[in-house]
Amino acid sequence: MNGPGIDRYPNIFSALKVGSASCRNRVKYAACSVSNFNTRDGSITDREYARMEVIAGTGAGMITNQGAYPDPEGAGKAYYRQLSIADDKYIPGFRKIADMLHRGGAIAIQQILHAGRYGGIDLDRCVQPSDVPQTLRHFRPPRQMSRDDIRRCVRDHCQASRRAMEAGFDGVEITAFMGYLLANFLSPFTNRRTDEYGGSLENRGRFMVELLGAIREAIGKDRLLIIRLNGEELMDERGGNSPPECIEFMKMARQQSSGVHRVHENGGAGGSRLHQHRSGLA
Ligand SMILES: Cc1cc2nc3c(=O)[nH]c(=O)nc-3n(C[C@H](O)[C@H](O)[C@H](O)COP(=O)(O)O)c2cc1C
Repeated sequence: MNGPGIDRYPNIFSALKVGSASCRNRVKYAACSVSNFNTRDGSITDREYARMEVIAGTGAGMITNQGAYPDPEGAGKAYYRQLSIADDKYIPGFRKIADMLHRGGAIAIQQILHAGRYGGIDLDRCVQPSDVPQTLRHFRPPRQMSRDDIRRCVRDHCQASRRAMEAGFDGVEITAFMGYLLANFLSPFTNRRTDEYGGSLENRGRFMVELLGAIREAIGKDRLLIIRLNGEELMDERGGNSPPECIEFMKMARQQSSGVHRVHENGGAGGSRLHQHRSGLA
């Protein structure tokens, strides 16, 4: 194959080892939903299966299924028909998707998406590291998470990851980008805590590091663990993370014992004045 694309990215169609898995090329289909294709209780419909059958046939080496919220209460739920992975009853639906992606020759990754500041769509509140008022009015009023809430949230993510494994996915992707829950903890704009989860870079990253370690234990050492992080938050003017701080969080995620296989880099947060502009795997 040749042409301007292949000249610029000569390795894009060559195989790559990711952890214990073999990826037939370096194209990753980033998690993407169609907001009204699932049911209100977060189940997958025939329409969504048909869409994923098309995605499975794209030839992408790694395909990430859309972000599913992990907690039964729905504090992590970002939109009315977001996919749920908060109960074992959803496993058969995820299994159909994992099988489809494998038949198409892709590595199958399930994304777990707790929306934090942008969550709680069915509730009267969202959860955040601190009680920082919304800048975008249609989101729910914030409630600060206690340490118990943090521990429960870690357990919910572990259960969600276990379900994805039981469904046959090769790994999970954790969302610490945009303005979702983990990114809220990383960012000094939304994290004003004075306990061990706030303040210094290390403290702001603590929840992410603990969560990755717990998920690694839950899924075993051979399954893939990917994290999607901001390379730029684009919230500098509001006291958010600078690009060098974002890089530090990437290193933190890669270095600790969780065995993160890939960092999916992203730009922008929901409250930033600039648009989200790109994403890529590092
Ligand atoms: C309708 C829609 C749904 C999306 N759902 C998700 C999602 O569930 N999880 C996620 O991490 N990103 C989601 N994204 C973001 C995409 O993964 C991607 O970053 C964005 O479309 C920009 O991709 P591009 O740089 O290839 O244009 C969604 C984007 C769109 C347009």
